[in-house]
Amino acid sequence: MTVRVLVIGSGGREHALLIGLSKDPSVTELHVGPGNAGTSAIATNHPVDIVSADAVVALARRIEADLVVIGPEVPLVAGVADALRAAGFATFGPGAEAARIEGSKAFAKDVMAAAGVRTAHSEIVDNPAKLDAALDRFGPTWVVKDDGLAAGKGVVVTDDRLAARDHAAELLENGHPVLLESFLDGPEVSLFSLVDGEQVVPLIPAQDHKRVGDGDAGPNTGGMGAYTPLPWLPDAVTQQIVDDVVKPVAAEMAKRGTPFSGLLYAGLAIGKDGPAVVEFNCRFGDPETQAVLALLKSPLGQALNATATGTLDQLPALEWLDGAAVTVVVAAENYPGKPRTGDVIGGAEGEGVLHAGTALSDDGAVVSAGGRVLSVVGTGADLAEARAQAYDRIAGIKLPGSHFRTDIGQAALEGRISL
Ligand code: GLY
Repeated sequence: MTVRVLVIGSGGREHALLIGLSKDPSVTELHVGPGNAGTSAIATNHPVDIVSADAVVALARRIEADLVVIGPEVPLVAGVADALRAAGFATFGPGAEAARIEGSKAFAKDVMAAAGVRTAHSEIVDNPAKLDAALDRFGPTWVVKDDGLAAGKGVVVTDDRLAARDHAAELLENGHPVLLESFLDGPEVSLFSLVDGEQVVPLIPAQDHKRVGDGDAGPNTGGMGAYTPLPWLPDAVTQQIVDDVVKPVAAEMAKRGTPFSGLLYAGLAIGKDGPAVVEFNCRFGDPETQAVLALLKSPLGQALNATATGTLDQLPALEWLDGAAVTVVVAAENYPGKPRTGDVIGGAEGEGVLHAGTALSDDGAVVSAGGRVLSVVGTGADLAEARAQAYDRIAGIKLPGSHFRTDIGQAALEGRISL
């Protein structure tokens, strides 16, 4: 039985995981490395370099962790889960080989092709001399991605060829191969599944809001808010995603000898011809997790432990609260550009206020320390109530220069999303 859990990471997702774990009676001690100002209220924060396998293993040993849960993609792609498993720790999160499903978009495309999963047509460009001809084969709309990890900010989706070209040229100049993709039409869905080899347990679907401004204006971000469940998505389509996308990909990875263990995040567009994959991630999404876990009734520690120990087939069916959950990200001035940091945050201790880019100053004040600073969660009997609670809670927060979207979940609420 899970007793002492170590969560790796420092964002709103990790704060949400810790809150979920703190409600599981089987979890008796919570640790986080490095955590943030908010996590220190429910867990012991430990400074650690999360991409150093040696440092994370040493921390897990020091606290005698029974389960280690890795939140972000960077340590997963760097092989930190492999090192923890080799040292004998039950670990939630894929090894480096399986984490390539997020770490290399070219690898993900290859797995999808072999698994017969619908996704955008794509081309890798690694030579600036070939960029213009490649751009001519796509768009409008152009979808230009960094082939490696870029925290959501490496993606530009635009009808402006010059903007597409500029982004691709900048990536190439910095030595990053570029992935050009055909544009997938239709509303987007984030479906998270616990995966242990070929065992797949889906969570409830959510929708992220990736652009910085209301009405999907401005550049892409790591995510400005999310809601769950999706009133416009029939259960049959969620099942179709599980059957036609997640299970075939899990089976293909197992077949390649690199079975996935952890959280497989399928980002999809639901077009006229059904779901098509926009991207896979090898970990919980941020900020969708903050909304999804707010509705989880089953013990989170038990679910993560079953995944980590290869016993997902024995996990009782997950139970969910009725109603809806919404999370709204409060971002620092200038985010997604270089954020202003170091400001004292007022109201950061309120209920439903999850911390992301925060730290404690020497005098104990909560200060901003990153681009996405807080992730404020509201729940309610329906989307309208959940939105109202989230925005009510935001009204109590004071952070100079900060901004947030005022329309998280609004299109769904107004029935403006349909398949
Ligand atoms: N919400 C987008 C992501 O987690 O990548």
